[in-house]
Amino acid sequence: MPLVSLNEVLGKASNEGYAVGAFNCNNMEIVQAIAGAAEEEKAPVIIQASQGAIRYAGLQYIVGLVNLAAHSVSVPVVLHLDHGTSFEQAVQCIRSGFSSVMIDGSQYPLEENIALTKKVVEVAHAVGVTVEGELGRIGGTEDDISVSEAEAFFTDPAEARYFVEQTGVDALAISIGTAHGRYKGAPRLDFARLKEIREIVPCPIVLHGSSGVADEDIRKAAQLGVSKFNIDTNIREKFVGAIREYLPAHPDEIDPRNVLKPAREAATAIIREKIRLFGSSNKA
Ligand code: G3H
Ligand code: 13P
Ligand code: ZN
Repeated sequence: MPLVSLNEVLGKASNEGYAVGAFNCNNMEIVQAIAGAAEEEKAPVIIQASQGAIRYAGLQYIVGLVNLAAHSVSVPVVLHLDHGTSFEQAVQCIRSGFSSVMIDGSQYPLEENIALTKKVVEVAHAVGVTVEGELGRIGGTEDDISVSEAEAFFTDPAEARYFVEQTGVDALAISIGTAHGRYKGAPRLDFARLKEIREIVPCPIVLHGSSGVADEDIRKAAQLGVSKFNIDTNIREKFVGAIREYLPAHPDEIDPRNVLKPAREAATAIIREKIRLFGSSNKA
């Protein structure tokens, strides 16, 4: 199928009470793993590219790989920019063929975040591309901050509604206690805040930092209205873990295909597991 936008997968998800997985890709094997897992699970899927992915693979390679993957499966695939850093980058991605972009203005004061996000929305919507904005700060696990300090960065529900009304974003990433990367301790999610945000914010809600969140918390967050869960770290762990396991057992191996095949299989398996957890199997 040709690429679709976020609206084509998240609208149905929020109406029917399940969530769609947004998986980060960096190379061909991971793109194949995401598309293959979605096809096997008959699930809609979001393939996203981070700043690091764009630096590593190159924008055009990502667009080429994901387009090919989308056309070779029968389920809806979104190509989404993850944590877009500027208006210029969002426009480059739109022009290169992304069907959706995130503009992350969360480090700016509210009105600056609104102005930047609104500008991206105007351009994106003119060509049918969807936009995810972010309000509140999602930590990196390297940020050694206490829970009370972290709470100061959590998304304020009233501000979230104002942000969505002012910008017209199609999805909103919120901060309720998750962080990127590997967690040092178990993350504690502020479900009361999520519920409050869901009740007053009209667009689909996105949870970043979903790797390492307990399955029952993911299920609860989906029930409370999260429609898009971002997963990168769990794929990295499984992909590199499989290579780490393969190489000592095959010290003479020089064929990268033999090294990367089990990595791709391990990535496919974890992505299928997450798709089932999010409830999007058989929803394509
Ligand atoms: O949101 C961030 C991603 O999980 C990782 O980003 O590919 O730029 O390291 P990166
Ligand atoms: P994880 O590091 O928890 O996989 O989160 C990824 C993410 O939020 C990408 O935007
Ligand atoms: Zn993120």
